[in-house]
Amino acid sequence: MDVRYIACMARMPSFLPNIRPVYNVSVNERSEMQPMTQKVAIFGAGAQGRVTLDILRACNNVAVVGFIDSNPDLKSQKINDLSVFGSADAIREAFGTDSSVIIALGANKIRMNVANALKTEGWQLFSAIHPSAVISQSARIGQNVAIMPHALVHSNAVVHDHAIINSSTVIEHDSIVGAGASVSPGTQVGGRVTIGESAFIGTGAIILPRVTIGEQAVIAAGALVTKDVPDRTLVAGSPAKHVQDIDDDFDWKRLL
Ligand SMILES: CC(C)(COP(=O)(O)OP(=O)(O)OC[C@H]1O[C@@H](n2cnc3c(N)ncnc32)[C@H](O)[C@@H]1OP(=O)(O)O)[C@@H](O)C(=O)NCCC(=O)NCCS
Repeated sequence: MDVRYIACMARMPSFLPNIRPVYNVSVNERSEMQPMTQKVAIFGAGAQGRVTLDILRACNNVAVVGFIDSNPDLKSQKINDLSVFGSADAIREAFGTDSSVIIALGANKIRMNVANALKTEGWQLFSAIHPSAVISQSARIGQNVAIMPHALVHSNAVVHDHAIINSSTVIEHDSIVGAGASVSPGTQVGGRVTIGESAFIGTGAIILPRVTIGEQAVIAAGALVTKDVPDRTLVAGSPAKHVQDIDDDFDWKRLL
């Protein structure tokens, strides 16, 4: 059986139609599959990297080979018992070219850009899904996605490439999480919601069903979003109201 494992074995999401499927086998065949270990590197040795490491260590088909981080202060260091390599090339020198990579950077745009650059260099992108997350069999999950502990991605939801679904977050049925979007812990996304590319949803927000969140929009922590939010707009409060437009000087790092 020719099956490549590029996501955790513990959960078996199907992939977006335009992406090579992870499991092109039936449900019955899946139960007979034996785990095949995949070598995975984590790009970024910060907080996002550490939580990604925890997810991957909880998966039974993954050998985490190292962090990739060019920060000179981290050179030859170990973080949570995992070695830091200064470049992606250094990982390939040490472990060969068959390692996959997941980009564990909190800033949405940067995460997408790094992922696309590494893909161009021939890297296979890996999606990390914690075994305690519940992913509907009908949900579709892209590449370089991180899904944290106790998240729920319900029926026919779609999570596009490079998105982050944080701990205990609910993505209800038929919702779409755009490429590079990030949904913070404890957020509740109602059914048929659309979250635009690179949007940021703050901790504990509630998004009512059928709402559309624009590209690069920011939803403040704890907001109750009752109406559509335009692109590049920050809203806060209950019900959420416009706070500011997001220009090129917006400091995305202050959200992390
Ligand atoms: C919306 C947000 C970006 C505002 O940050 P900020 O500009 O630094 O805000 P400040 O702390 O300077 O507060 C400015 C005002 O907004 C209010 N405010 C701040 N955050 C708010 C929020 N989430 N909802 C409602 N009001 C908020 C403050 O009380 C303050 O009001 P005041 O002027 O009447 O005193 C921030 O609160 C937020 O929600 N960040 C998301 C963080 C997050 O969830 N990260 C996930 C990590 S996993």
